[in-house]
Amino acid sequence: MKKLLPVLLCVGLVEAASAVPALVPAPKSYVEATGELVVKAASAADVKVVVTKDPSVPAEGYELTVSSTGVAVKASDDAGAFYARQTLKQMAEPAGRGELKIPCATVVDAPAFKWRGAHLDDCRHFFGKEVVKRMMDQMAAHKMNVLHWHLTEDQGWRLDIPKYPELVKYGAVRPASVAHGAKPRWKNGEMEIDLNTEPYGPYYYTAADVKEILAYAKDRFITVVPEIELPGHAFAALAAYPEMACVPENLKARHPRVKWGIEKDVVCIGNPAGVKFFEDVLDYVCELFPSEVIHIGGDETPRARWKDCPKCQAFVKAHGLKDENDIQPWVTRHFADYLAKKGRRILGWDEILAGDVPQSAMGMSWRTNAKGGAGTAYVSGAAGAMKGHDMVMTPNKFCYLDYAQGLENDPFVYIGGCVTLEKAYAFDPCEGIAGEARKHVLGGQCNNWSEYTWNQFDLEWKMWPRTCAIAEVLWTYPAQPRDYAGFAKRMETHRTRLLKAHVNCAPLR
Ligand code: ACM
Ligand code: ZN
Repeated sequence: MKKLLPVLLCVGLVEAASAVPALVPAPKSYVEATGELVVKAASAADVKVVVTKDPSVPAEGYELTVSSTGVAVKASDDAGAFYARQTLKQMAEPAGRGELKIPCATVVDAPAFKWRGAHLDDCRHFFGKEVVKRMMDQMAAHKMNVLHWHLTEDQGWRLDIPKYPELVKYGAVRPASVAHGAKPRWKNGEMEIDLNTEPYGPYYYTAADVKEILAYAKDRFITVVPEIELPGHAFAALAAYPEMACVPENLKARHPRVKWGIEKDVVCIGNPAGVKFFEDVLDYVCELFPSEVIHIGGDETPRARWKDCPKCQAFVKAHGLKDENDIQPWVTRHFADYLAKKGRRILGWDEILAGDVPQSAMGMSWRTNAKGGAGTAYVSGAAGAMKGHDMVMTPNKFCYLDYAQGLENDPFVYIGGCVTLEKAYAFDPCEGIAGEARKHVLGGQCNNWSEYTWNQFDLEWKMWPRTCAIAEVLWTYPAQPRDYAGFAKRMETHRTRLLKAHVNCAPLR
């Protein structure tokens, strides 16, 4: 039986009344009404919804009213109407005889952040179109709207670029790989790990694949932000075109890096061919991808080769740079300008914010308490926002889903660390950022690095349920104090929902 009077429930209280469905992410407000709607429909996607455009509803927000006679939605944009439908899907339950029942209620909702993302490393391991689509189905169900697609790496180049056919010929296949399920052993700071001798690939996406994925994303209000890593993490490209490296002999085997870890061979910036190559690649990427934001990587770029390379040292002199440490800011400036001329903006890992770089460069903060890695200075997420850079927050302590999730007898392998579900729920995108600078926090995302993630099953196990926590933080922020117990309670029901949708969601603890 429903209560006779409507009850106003706010975020954090939604779970207090047992009749209220377990919604994830929680809506801003849920007002329960009397009765339920019973409709003949195979799924909630088939339930008729009357949508009215209402400019007073915030962007991506909606007002959803379920009465015993039907469903009405007000939204100012199509994304809002789409998110109302996602909420409706979670509210609906089978009632037998091909019918669904939906509790009568009014839901008023809107997101806190405009960047609610998930990243996928398709390079260390390649997942393919169908997995990317499954991932986007679940992202959309949790009202996430950015797929950050990591397409190039030391260990594999996954995008066909017609002007550079050698890229996929050499860069998309490894002659050997880390063996399935192998765990790293560390000896004197060096990683030892079992390798197999099976060719891996060639695995890559064609323009037709990308177009199919982009169409799928558009239908789900997801922007696909491609990442082309430069000037480091580019060993697979150098395998295809060794002349772009400071030391071409290091690439004579002509294949991507086989082991995980940071590669010292990076793009020779003293050789104009390397810069021209990435300009051409980005030209093509801009033709394919409509995203205003293009990710240029930029993390973990060792300076060792640039220090010893006569061409790079001549470049330093010719451009009035202090030393090789100034090369990366030059690269950032160059590609910020290059992409700006095409109406695009660069985004890069937090390393790109060090040095003299334009304020228009967007940063993706991933390190916490770092002193700077691989010879690069450290700019924290808070410092980036304070300097006026638009920031996407993805601190590894909360958002790296390749870190262990604290489960007993977990059958999957992790890179290390520990991000429990509770820890992911404690993610605070604005931590340490006060006042005006907060407007530079566009949002955040979870990162799915795939060194130790071999396929769809361990990808989903690692993503879910922790992505639910991150999606809820990004949708409902600040919602303080955060009610983890309430979230965990809703998650018990929601996990069953995910399992029924064939998502390999891990247990909550
Ligand atoms: C990163 O995790 N290297 C961005
Ligand atoms: Zn060089």
